[in-house]
Amino acid sequence: MSFDYFLYKGVKFSPGSYSQELLQYVENEFQVLDDDVYIVTYPKSGTHWLIEILSLINRDADPTWCNSVLIWLRSPWIETKEGQLQLKDLSSPRVLTSHLPFHIFPKAFFTSKAKIIYVMRNPKDIFVSLFYFAKIICHYKDPESFEQYLEDFLQGNILYNSWFEHVRGWMQMKDNSNFFIITYEELHQDLRGCILRICKFLGKELGDSKIDTIVKHSSFEAMKENKMSNYSLGTEEYIDHTKGTFMRKGTAGDWKNHFTVAQSEHFDRVYQEKMKDLNMKFFWEGK
Ligand code: A3P
Repeated sequence: MSFDYFLYKGVKFSPGSYSQELLQYVENEFQVLDDDVYIVTYPKSGTHWLIEILSLINRDADPTWCNSVLIWLRSPWIETKEGQLQLKDLSSPRVLTSHLPFHIFPKAFFTSKAKIIYVMRNPKDIFVSLFYFAKIICHYKDPESFEQYLEDFLQGNILYNSWFEHVRGWMQMKDNSNFFIITYEELHQDLRGCILRICKFLGKELGDSKIDTIVKHSSFEAMKENKMSNYSLGTEEYIDHTKGTFMRKGTAGDWKNHFTVAQSEHFDRVYQEKMKDLNMKFFWEGK
């Protein structure tokens, strides 16, 4: 493997944004507040969609904040060096983001009243999204080919290791009342209904017209237009904008435009093998 990474408790991290000391600190000393809400995801699952939705819910549907503050400052990544610097500017209740696997998430969370929204997405679509993302973002290994990258993805030979490990780890929380699972595909199918469910989980009541405003401002088109949300500003160091955009396509099922039948069947076999004893049915299965 030729890309630059280090291991923390068996998980691959990029030295550009992470360090052993920081991960140790986040795991063991990070201060969790009881009213914190954490968006936890495997990369490319719909993390930013949730940040936008929660930014709007927390501000009673007023879009001013989303239109004036960069998305990663509204909900910093707790495990990155940049995220740690940004945390101090947040007011309570904080919405924080993390790609950390279950076994290295801040220990303090598990004795707190804080909440997690775990966003999931069909891993075939995650793979396609990641394939394009890896080409434009500097700290990811540039894919040699679709075929090779697919194998790296299935083997967990990439940053944050495999999707399977991430999901299997976090599903240990599935029956906890402070843990809420939502899928990218459900958001697509019924954004309004999902926003209502998220509000209920957070104990937030907003009237119909405020919910409508949140639906409008968190649509793919609105986020793609919003310079504070579409990663076009302040990202020159991290993203090569000549190669593609962060808000790429925003659809469910794009994998069908990319996978051969053989690749899809191979993926399905690995999926069955890795997920077989989990006894959970996910929204995208059989679609
Ligand atoms: P695609 O590459 O398939 O377009 P993350 O935020 O976890 O990095 O995920 C990024 C993916 O979510 C990208 O997928 C991006 O386009 C998509 N996305 C972001 N905001 C979205 C929205 N409002 N509606 C639909 N998809 C969205």
